[in-house]
Amino acid sequence: MKSIDHNQSFAFPAIGAEVLFGFGVLQRLPEKVAELDGKRVLIVTDKGVNAAGIVDQVIEVLTEAWIPAVVFDEVPQDSGSKTVERAVDVLRAENCNLIVGVGGGSSLDAAKAVAFGATNPPPVVQYAGLNKLEQPGLPVIAIPTTAGTGSEVSYWSVMTDDESQVKIGIGGALVFPRVALADPALTLSLPPFLTATTGMDALTHAIESYTNLSYQPISAALTYRAIELIGDFLVRAVQDGADREARYGMLLGSLLAGMGINPTRLGIAHALAMPLGSWQLKIAHGTGNAVLLPHVMTFNLEGNPTLYADVARALGVGDADPLTASHIAIARVRAINAEIGIPASLSALGLAEAMIPRVCAEAIKSSNIVVNPRLCTQADLEAICRAAL
Ligand SMILES: [Fe+2]
Repeated sequence: MKSIDHNQSFAFPAIGAEVLFGFGVLQRLPEKVAELDGKRVLIVTDKGVNAAGIVDQVIEVLTEAWIPAVVFDEVPQDSGSKTVERAVDVLRAENCNLIVGVGGGSSLDAAKAVAFGATNPPPVVQYAGLNKLEQPGLPVIAIPTTAGTGSEVSYWSVMTDDESQVKIGIGGALVFPRVALADPALTLSLPPFLTATTGMDALTHAIESYTNLSYQPISAALTYRAIELIGDFLVRAVQDGADREARYGMLLGSLLAGMGINPTRLGIAHALAMPLGSWQLKIAHGTGNAVLLPHVMTFNLEGNPTLYADVARALGVGDADPLTASHIAIARVRAINAEIGIPASLSALGLAEAMIPRVCAEAIKSSNIVVNPRLCTQADLEAICRAAL
């Protein structure tokens, strides 16, 4: 890892979520609901997670403890502000006072948004940005079913503004779930392609955070270990979903990366992933990041080859020369993408050349651009998109 800079001062935010991690921790849900004084629970999830039987498992654990639960399973991929408003209406009509988010990033981010949407005057989109919320939200217990976003320990909630059709992020200490209940058993049934794309989202979090201008030692410790774990276990988890060690390693890796990115933000891949998931494009977040990551690393490596050499080392490859090691790291990311079946290009995901200027005009406004390790213009973003097309 990069040697320390004794002149650097930095801050790392307190993680608002207590983390319970390991096979079987779902059984501790009633204890945590009771500690948070939950009387009636709203489960915020999506239809896929519900159909997979995971919501039934959650309800069973709650029912055994006589805790009533209502299910809102209408969170779509790339969820939006109208979904949040509908869920807040259900929460009020059903008199729920605690939210359990169950699912991938969309469901967990929606659960967090329902929690603050219930206590802050509408519309929820007016709180886009960092620390704009006025009131603490209702308590949230976040239960991930993918090893990807790290949303269970992050202070961001991403959603589409259903008026403008643009993705926004609402962030700050008031957005944290109160408990992250990370049980790898709940990821065992995740299909291979979703395992692949969500896992690459986690790897993109770790690499973008580790290499950007906000580099700081605590985030770096978390994200370096995340790169190691994801490098070790992503291919295995895709190839054999029942591999418990790989599922454990992936969920831990995504959680560590999720913690690490809170104070550092990310980079170009995430700046582009937001508009690529907007309008009619709706390119899935993890898939877009996966395709972009090697191209972004190629553009960025001259910004700080030493850090990319660290990435190579964390991925189990490398070279004594930092620039050579950086190229080896990129080759390793490309190889992982190929091994786990990530599509080869953005055009395969539905991006047309004509849309690139609009995507990049939006991406350049992202707060992830200012921390990117290499100065980046809109023309640079367009060139990266064309290279990935
Ligand atoms: Fe992400």
